Amino acid sequence: MNRLDMPTSVHWHGVRLENGMDGVSGLTQAPIAPGDSFAYRFPLQDAGTFWYHAHHRSYMQVAQGLYGALIVDEPERPDIDADEALLIDDWRLDPETVQIRADFDNRHDHSHAGRLGNLVTVNGAFTHEGARPQNSRLRLRLINAANARVFRLGVQGMSAWVMALDGMPVAQPWPLNQPIDLAPGQRVDLFADITAAPGTQAHLVDIAQNGEGWALASWTAQTGGTRLPRPAPQPLPENPQMAVPVIDIARQVQLDMTGGAMRGLREARYQGQMLDARSLAMQGKFWAFNGRAGDMDSPLLSAFQGETLRLRLHNNTAFAHAMHLHGMHFREVLPNGSTGPMRDTVLMQRGQTRDIAFVAHSPGKWLLHCHMLGHAAAGMITWIEVLA
Ligand code: C2O
Ligand code: CU
Repeated sequence: MNRLDMPTSVHWHGVRLENGMDGVSGLTQAPIAPGDSFAYRFPLQDAGTFWYHAHHRSYMQVAQGLYGALIVDEPERPDIDADEALLIDDWRLDPETVQIRADFDNRHDHSHAGRLGNLVTVNGAFTHEGARPQNSRLRLRLINAANARVFRLGVQGMSAWVMALDGMPVAQPWPLNQPIDLAPGQRVDLFADITAAPGTQAHLVDIAQNGEGWALASWTAQTGGTRLPRPAPQPLPENPQMAVPVIDIARQVQLDMTGGAMRGLREARYQGQMLDARSLAMQGKFWAFNGRAGDMDSPLLSAFQGETLRLRLHNNTAFAHAMHLHGMHFREVLPNGSTGPMRDTVLMQRGQTRDIAFVAHSPGKWLLHCHMLGHAAAGMITWIEVLA
């Protein structure tokens, strides 16, 4: 039931579902008008950490908090002592009124690094605090709900393993010895064993560009824990029927990302017309995929159900982008030809070229866009058609 005074829709980020339930207003459904309701009904195929958020003017609605965590449990609970979902966000508040600033259409944000906030929260609070016996194993489900901020996450006083990315278990967990980047839309599941001495704290930290850490969440190690340290964790059970892309047979498609400040668009197609930079800016478009600035009339490509696709993403802009594909997880094709873990969102640093491959297993219209939501609104959005 939409109790807002504007239309909306709900997208189930990372969830494998039928296209009609994907919640993309204007592509898979009509926007839900104020006072109207829409029933999202779909079976859950995968266990893991997902999230849901508004997908109508998302750059505005998500920035105001229209999102939540969607946790699907494994059939059998893994060997852990606690399970905590942490939604990390940054908000742009007006320092005077302490209200969310309503400058959602800010052109500077849209054409630069996106809407960055001035207050970081975890589950809507300034800090997240807990207390656990030493040697407890926490499952931390970290979700980046920010519009544009990339968090660089590390731990202190805990030893952690990466167990799953974007809701999908990794084949072999690895120890979190290096900070991990979490781009908007991405998730990581950690198993984190508290190693801090009793009475001291273990932390989840965001590591700023200058190398300084900032605690996002802290757990006090309690005394009296009788637990012994556990061995390295076993992988989480694989989700069912994940199609593995066979790279040799993949159809290759190029996706060239251009525009933004510093390397502005000279021209691009919008609503079926070629526009120059000035006209594009008047439409609020600053970015393009393959020379099209959010031109949604036709898809980037049409595939047959079951076809394997390999997209070569080339970030020819001066900014980072978090490319998200709806409905189907992909694997990165690494330079040595092997494939990386399954993901639904990939962080593209400026200048990078990366290949992602996936089996187009599900028919329908699937969005592909930058999850820095102002970028998507300003042209970084397209879709893929999978024919049944
Ligand atoms: Cu989480 Cu189209 O997005
Ligand atoms: Cu972007």
